Amino acid sequence: MTSKRVVAASTFLMSSALILSACGGGGDSASGGDGTVLGFSQVGAESGWRTANTTSIQGAASEAGIDLKFSDAQQKQENQIKAIRTYIQQKVDVIAFSPVVETGWEPVLQEAKRANIPVILTDRSVDTTDESLYATFLGSDFVAEGVKAGDWLVENSATSDVNADGRINVVELEGTTGAAPAIDRAEGFREAIAAQPTIAISKSQTGDFTRDGGKQVMESFLNSDKAIDVVYAHNDDMGLGAIEAIEAAGLVPGKDIKIITVDAVKDGMQALADGKIDYIVECNPLLGPQLMDLTKKVVAGEEVPKRVVTEETTFTRDQAAAVLADRQY
Ligand code: AHR
Repeated sequence: MTSKRVVAASTFLMSSALILSACGGGGDSASGGDGTVLGFSQVGAESGWRTANTTSIQGAASEAGIDLKFSDAQQKQENQIKAIRTYIQQKVDVIAFSPVVETGWEPVLQEAKRANIPVILTDRSVDTTDESLYATFLGSDFVAEGVKAGDWLVENSATSDVNADGRINVVELEGTTGAAPAIDRAEGFREAIAAQPTIAISKSQTGDFTRDGGKQVMESFLNSDKAIDVVYAHNDDMGLGAIEAIEAAGLVPGKDIKIITVDAVKDGMQALADGKIDYIVECNPLLGPQLMDLTKKVVAGEEVPKRVVTEETTFTRDQAAAVLADRQY
């Protein structure tokens, strides 16, 4: 950060601290922070994962004494671009965002760069060859998540052919079209099953990472195909929607149709422990503390790694049942 920007930011922050204290709460005055302002553009509130992620970021900001300006883009890229431009005008210290889709960010990231405001990508990355447009990317390895889901199916393929025709007919509920986790989880899964001639993905459609989306897509899959063996859903919410559609069709999820999902939020873990989901690959939404730590380092001019990968695991039924009571989200 240039000294000019530090002066501009501190002038802005001093006045915002005054306004906040006059309002009687929040920001650095309430939490004893150093006046750092972080503008964060969230994707939306499409899933249980997203809600947990928002709670983690808001809680960690308040804990760290960082003045968080938060906006919900309702899953629209244009809203995220607008929010980022507003943060640039407000001269925040750091901008962080979770990009709803991978492409189309270079112009607004160039604007942030020209304004000397560092950008932290959280959860999802952007498709760019210019790494100078962001300071760091904190989030999961979505390709690895897809590989884990596919590996489980390969390892359990002997018991996965519920229609007993020797072929495993998989349908895929994809995340938001163009989103990094949708692209990467599809890629990783395909990579893992590639050498298995008996496993084939017969249908793949987006359910937009929502429960309703998953339910609707699964209903249409079931209307046109009675021989589905496995559902691979890119998140728990779509898997939970698929369960509703499967039960409404008179079938038993986890028995007539096996279900693999990603996330491991509480509702998903409950369904796994109840035997309605067969396997969950974890995607950890609790990124708040690491994001605040990176924000402070970036503001202090410290070097940060270009990529911070979130640590994650996987859950079988027994493992879900064992941790369910202590699951925070
Ligand atoms: O980017 C993370 C993904 O977005 C989560 O898996 C999904 O639930 C969310 O909506």
